[in-house]
Amino acid sequence: MTDQAPPPVSIREYEERARGVLPRMASDYYAGGAEDERTIADNRAAFSRWVLRPRVLVDVAERDLTMVVLGTPVSLPVLVSPTALHALAHPDGEVETARGAAAAGTVMALSSLASRTLEDVAAVGGPRWFQLYVQRDRDFTAELVKRAEAAGYSAIVLTADLPVVGARDRDARNAFTIPSGMGYANLAVTRPPESQASDLATFIAFQGDPSLNWNDVEWLRSLTDLPFILKGVVTEEDAARAVDAGFEGIVVSNHGGRQLDGTIASLDALPEVVAAVDGRAEVLLDGGVRRGTDVLKALALGARAVMVGRPVLWGLAVGGAGGVRRVLDLIRRELDVAMALAGCRSIAEIGTKLIRRA
Ligand code: FNR
Repeated sequence: MTDQAPPPVSIREYEERARGVLPRMASDYYAGGAEDERTIADNRAAFSRWVLRPRVLVDVAERDLTMVVLGTPVSLPVLVSPTALHALAHPDGEVETARGAAAAGTVMALSSLASRTLEDVAAVGGPRWFQLYVQRDRDFTAELVKRAEAAGYSAIVLTADLPVVGARDRDARNAFTIPSGMGYANLAVTRPPESQASDLATFIAFQGDPSLNWNDVEWLRSLTDLPFILKGVVTEEDAARAVDAGFEGIVVSNHGGRQLDGTIASLDALPEVVAAVDGRAEVLLDGGVRRGTDVLKALALGARAVMVGRPVLWGLAVGGAGGVRRVLDLIRRELDVAMALAGCRSIAEIGTKLIRRA
């Protein structure tokens, strides 16, 4: 999927362009969230509640955006969040996304709900983490983790904020179904049985395990020596508990506003999580990151790196792997300019003095 028009100059333009090329059902599935989508809006609005305190007369002639996150070197502190069903945006699905992320030099976190196998995606060769949804079938879950390890994924991202699927009006209105020929390539049952209601909520409920709790963490950790990252934390209580349970990383996330509407914005939750973790784990953030200045603000508030979900899907829909790469390069360029203007030469120089409440 390529288009003749000049490439978009901002993530917002990618969003508009993607809306024009995606079928309505897919566009709404990607863009939408829970109930009144207040948390989606607030994830964005939160970035305006904080302002920057740039320093001047710093020699910023040379700048370096590279860093290491959970042991994985990346070319910028922006990673790809796990999102389901990339085949809705491109025939090669997650394989194509992985090509774009690898070209941009960053980690792609592959969703458990991917439309391509984790082995196919691994064959692209880029840095990769595997996002785990624990299945009711624990033996199958263990197998999934071992497959990811064998295929060279370097961390397991346990998503904890989806015991059930959020109430998503857009998908209900569209009677969202997975198009024929497509499915969850890594799961035991890749498509809902025809006899069942084929909506997402029913299907995930069919295999996902809402009984998952802290007591299961030890078992999960026994499956592999890979680092574990807990995704979906927005409170200091859970952050402290995650560190005690041995998680090496935490993603402050409300699932891009797709789960519990009215949840605190990711950026607003970040300071309490960073304080509770107190350097004992690496803290990442996703939700509403659309600009280089957003990345700068999250890092100034103590995130080690950020992740982006929808922008990558929009890039994929508009321009395949090239679109994914351009989306990440846009953010890179914006971050580079923002760092120069703020007086930061490296990621390590982005500190808490750079930001305050508006
Ligand atoms: C998601 N997200 C998600 N998270 C996860 O852990 N596993 C998954 O399979 C999915 N699937 C998924 C599908 C779609 C279409 C979206 C938009 C999101 C949540 C995702 O990882 C991330 O938390 C948010 O997308 C971040 O917010 P932004 O960047 O989209 O605003």
